Order: sequence, then structure tokens, then C-alpha cells
Amino acid sequence: MELFKVNGHKNLCGEVSLHGAKNSALPVLCACLLVKGESIIHNCPNLSDVRATLKILENLGCTVARQGNTVTVNAAQVSGFAIDEAMMRTMRSSILFLGALLSRTGNANIYLPGGCDIGTRPVDLHLKAIKNLGVSVEENGSCISCTTGGIKGAKIILPFASVGATENIMIAAAVSKGKTIIINAAREPEICDLAEFLNKCGAKIYGAGEGTIEIEGVKVLKPCEHRIIPDRILASTYMSACAATGGEIVINDIKATHLSPVFPVFNEMGCRLYLNGASLKVIAPKRLRRVKTIKTMPYPAFPTDSQPMVTAALCVAKGTSVIKENIFENRFGYVSELNRFGADVEVNDTLAVINGVKKLKGANVFAGDLRGGAALIVAALAAEGTSTIRSIYHIDRGYASIEQELEKLGADIKRINDEEAKEKELKSS
Ligand code: EPU
Repeated sequence: MELFKVNGHKNLCGEVSLHGAKNSALPVLCACLLVKGESIIHNCPNLSDVRATLKILENLGCTVARQGNTVTVNAAQVSGFAIDEAMMRTMRSSILFLGALLSRTGNANIYLPGGCDIGTRPVDLHLKAIKNLGVSVEENGSCISCTTGGIKGAKIILPFASVGATENIMIAAAVSKGKTIIINAAREPEICDLAEFLNKCGAKIYGAGEGTIEIEGVKVLKPCEHRIIPDRILASTYMSACAATGGEIVINDIKATHLSPVFPVFNEMGCRLYLNGASLKVIAPKRLRRVKTIKTMPYPAFPTDSQPMVTAALCVAKGTSVIKENIFENRFGYVSELNRFGADVEVNDTLAVINGVKKLKGANVFAGDLRGGAALIVAALAAEGTSTIRSIYHIDRGYASIEQELEKLGADIKRINDEEAKEKELKSS
């Protein structure tokens, strides 16, 4: 097992670039299953969730290869329609193989997906939508068996603008008979990226990024090349780390419109933001100001995925900030670890009250989920003294070699083997 060792309290300073968005790469890779040929995906980050998705594609008979950040998926031959439980449980996005397998083979034998432990995360909206598209669904415990004589277009009204359910419907209905309309579709940039990829392959998807998406089913998709959008959540992670350490950094390869929901929050904290094309300069004040209230909501509002890192930065702000989490009912799980740094955050259900403290002190903590883990990195970078963060496999799911990127900004963060760390601790005690 590996851990991060951080010597904190250093102002971050320098330049970094964003890698491709995890939450865009995963659905696009699943959608490659629909294409009877070789899809070429650029800017595909080398994350453990991406590697797990490629493994599933290989097990289904596809040939996959990576060269740098370009991944090719050849789905000319698909030899199965079952995914085993262990693979399904590696990540939440494995549920998107449901739409992809049904469209490609007419069958899907899968299990309930895994993913970060941030709420109950049911798949009822996915299954209801798939049934509407002419699929028969049998559930037996955690096992889901589906079959269809062909996907048929339908009008689907989502009671909540679920990102995953919108993506599953788009993937399932791209190759189908008739027209599908999604009412109350999710509007996240990752939805637009998936639509762009599918449309390049010949799909007819209209209205991605708006509340209503129309999909005219086509007979077949052809191979294409596609570049994954930059990771907006990674950008907000760097911004939080800069803010918490009183730093001055430049983030390259950003898409400013994707970040417009987070800019006002950093302005309110007293950070100065300068946009220059695809580069963003962030200059943090010596001491951050509190933010009155942040409410997480579906795009184009403040993203739930940025919430933990921003909370970590606000721990050292002057004054009291309030955060209301509206997407996942259990997304403050990391707060108890954050408080080990000397932070003063009180959680009541889905509300966090952050009483800013002057400084944080190094602590030994455990990451419990991906973004919660990133929040602990932000706190460790701000804290005086040495911190260790364990269970960092959660962080590796969504950040590619984050320690090397942060080192470019002058952070003192090292990935070390747990056993080595224990030995050193024993020797020094
Ligand atoms: N929901 C249901 N039933 C469903 C589907 C969703 O009740 O069938 C509920 C969920 O339990 C949750 C809410 O709806 O309370 C939102 O879920 P959504 O389906 O929108 O999220 P997701 O598709 O599971 C994706 C991202 C998450 C991100 C959310 C919201 C991927 C692989 N994951 O999850 O990313 O937080 O959208 O923006 O795209 C992360 O990267 O750390 C992460 C958790």
C-alpha cells in the first residue's frame, strides 16, 4: 500500500496543465463499444478508473492500446455481454456498460456498480429509462439481466437530472429505431463531450447541454477520433490548493466556461483570477475570506465534486462559511479527517459550517473517497509540519500522478510505500 507524505505550509507557485476529464473519458470509452472499428481517444488520462474501464472492454472482446494519453479501442469484435461483479464494483460508471451492451448485443448481464461511498447511489433511474427503451430487465439481488430485440425510441422524463442516467440513455439510444427525447436531462460539460463523440461517429443527438435532449436513432456508428475535454474538477482542486496555501499559480488547458460556476466562489474568498485564453492565473490573498453560503447543484451551478477541496481551503479562511450539499447525502464523510488537522468544521446532515482557523497542523489521515482524499491533500499542503495520507488508491481513481503535478508547483509531497514509512517511523521512535 502506498501513502502520501506531505511537508506543508509552502505557498504553491508555478504552472501546471490539466489532464482529460475522468467523468468524460469513462462514458466515452464505454460508448466505444457501439463502434464496429477503432476509436481513437486523445487526452485520455491514465487513471485507475480508466484502466479498469479498458480492462472491461478487453474482457468483452475489444482490443485496447495506450500510447501516452491516446487510447485506441477496437470494438470490431465483441464476444460477450457479461461483466463480473468484482469489475462492476470497481467504479460507478461501470453502469454505463448497460446501455452500451444492450445497444451492441441486445443483452447485458451485469451487477450493481461500486464507486465512492458518498451516498446510497441507486440505479433506479437508469433501469426505468432502459425499460422505457424496450428492454426487459430482471433484478436478482445485485445481479441485473437485461435483454432486448432492439432499442426503441421513447420519451423519458427524468425526475432528477442524473448525469449517469442521461449518459446511459444517450449511449443506448444512439443506435436504435425511432426518436428518444430526454426531458430534464443533465447539462454537465461531460454530457456535451459524450454527445460530441457520438455525433462524430454518426449519431444524431441534439440539445446536449440543455434540459431536453433529442436522439434520432441511427443504424450504425463509424469510427472517429476524439479529444476528451480538460478536467474541470482537477482545475478546482489546483485552485483550492493555491487558495489554501496563499499561492500564485497558472493552470493551463482550461475551458473557462466549464469553470464559471466556481469562479465567483474563489473571488469571494479573495483570490484574484486572470484569464488568458486557456490559461488561468490564480493569486491567493495571505488569508482567505469566508464565503457566505455555497450550495452544490447540477451544472451550471456549483459542482458537488469541487465541494470537498473548497471546504478544505475554507478551513483557513477568516470567518465562518456554510456549505449545503444537495447532490449526495453523505458527501461530508471526509470532514472528521479534516478536523484532525485542527480544522473546525461541524456537519449536520447535508450542511457543513466551517469556522475558519488561523492555521492547520500536520496530521495522519485516511482518504475515504476520491474527492474527500483530494481535500485532505489540500489541507496537508496548507498545514504546518508533516502529514501522511493513507488509502490513496481512492485519489488515484481520479488524479493522474497528482504528487508529481503538485511538485511542479513547489509542493513537498512524496508517494511512498506504507511499509517503508512504518519502518522509518519505528526507527525514529
Ligand atoms: N440518483 C438516483 N437514482 C439513479 C441515479 C442517480 O437516485 O438512478 C441520485 C444519486 O444517488 C445522487 C444524484 O442522483 O444523489 C446524482 O447522481 P448522478 O446520477 O447525477 O451522478 P453519477 O452519474 O452517479 C456523476 C459523476 C460524479 C459526480 C456526479 C454529479 C461520473 C463517473 N461520476 O455521478 O463524480 O459527482 O455525476 O455531478 O461521471 C467524482 O468524480 O468524484 C464523482 C463522484
